[in-house]
Amino acid sequence: MKILTIESTCDETAAAVITDDLQVLSSVVASQDELHQRFAGVVPEIAARAHLERCLPVIDEAILKANIQLADIDAVAVANMPGLAGSLLVGVTAAKTLAWLLDKPLIGINHLQGHIYACQVAFQRPIFPCIGLIISGGHSTIYHCKSPFDFEPLGGTIDDAAGESFDKVASMLGLPYPGGPSLSKCAMNGNPKAFAFPRPFLKDSSRLDFSFSGLKTAVRYEIAGPGAVDFKSLTIDDQRKADIAASFEQAVIDCLVGKTMQAMKTTGIQRICVGGGVAANRRFRAALEEEVAATGGELLIAPMHLCTDNAVLGAIAVEKIKAGQVDDLSLDALPGLIR
Ligand code: KG4
Ligand code: ZN
Repeated sequence: MKILTIESTCDETAAAVITDDLQVLSSVVASQDELHQRFAGVVPEIAARAHLERCLPVIDEAILKANIQLADIDAVAVANMPGLAGSLLVGVTAAKTLAWLLDKPLIGINHLQGHIYACQVAFQRPIFPCIGLIISGGHSTIYHCKSPFDFEPLGGTIDDAAGESFDKVASMLGLPYPGGPSLSKCAMNGNPKAFAFPRPFLKDSSRLDFSFSGLKTAVRYEIAGPGAVDFKSLTIDDQRKADIAASFEQAVIDCLVGKTMQAMKTTGIQRICVGGGVAANRRFRAALEEEVAATGGELLIAPMHLCTDNAVLGAIAVEKIKAGQVDDLSLDALPGLIR
């Protein structure tokens, strides 16, 4: 069985062809980074228009690269939640149209659950039950993943997502968007202990939550103090910039790793699966690997190319097909932030 999966939840337009035994026949991602760069964040209206332009060419390319015809597709899956409304609508409309045209089953999937399921695709082994950590530009959530259909939130950010804080701090430091990769590159030359930025809730063993908004403000004060400031006109000495970047990055990593280890301890679950763009951060990967190894637990972090948004996330549709959980043409885009 060959499933066409479509992803358009935020600012990547992506399509993949995946078999029901989780072989990835093709995966195509059209990034919009260059369109959002000058705004230092995703502009929903621009994202939706770019999806519209790129959706069909990306699907065509995925079919071509899989060396099949459109008529060879047995099912169409699409991430229909959560995400930006306009962006989601493009993927959902394309998927519904194709499913109707080809008279094949349509499956809506949860993008966040797909991020965790990417670990099952990458490591080709069952991942449930596990602790799932999703760290992206829009979400920072810890789940107890009981099955492909049952993700219980254990905690998450009470304000900004980890990736959002990377993007904003990078922007304050005059580093290009997306901020995660550019900030961590800058941080390589810095001292992670140079500044003592806050690590909210880290010592509070009663909750598995994060808060990154105060950290962002602490960095802002360190750079420019309170009051209005034009960050574009600021000049920051290169070493100071690297030290701020490294200290900020370390604070985020300490929170993410600390709470994941706490989740392991409180639930007794020994397997951790991690997905989402921030999971591409090398220092984070190394820190979590070290901590989990010390406990004898099993750690599956999505490989770099599956961390940021892509359509291989849609592979979770295979589980839905096997369980008979197929949607009909009333499938809708559900933007709501589901923790
Ligand atoms: O999962 P993703 O591609 O899109 C969302 O669903 O949000 O995640 C994008 C986020 C951005 O905020 C980006 O800055 C961050 O992931 N990111 C990173 C790294 N690479 C991407 N954050 C930290 N370190 C990285 N190396
Ligand atoms: Zn994502």
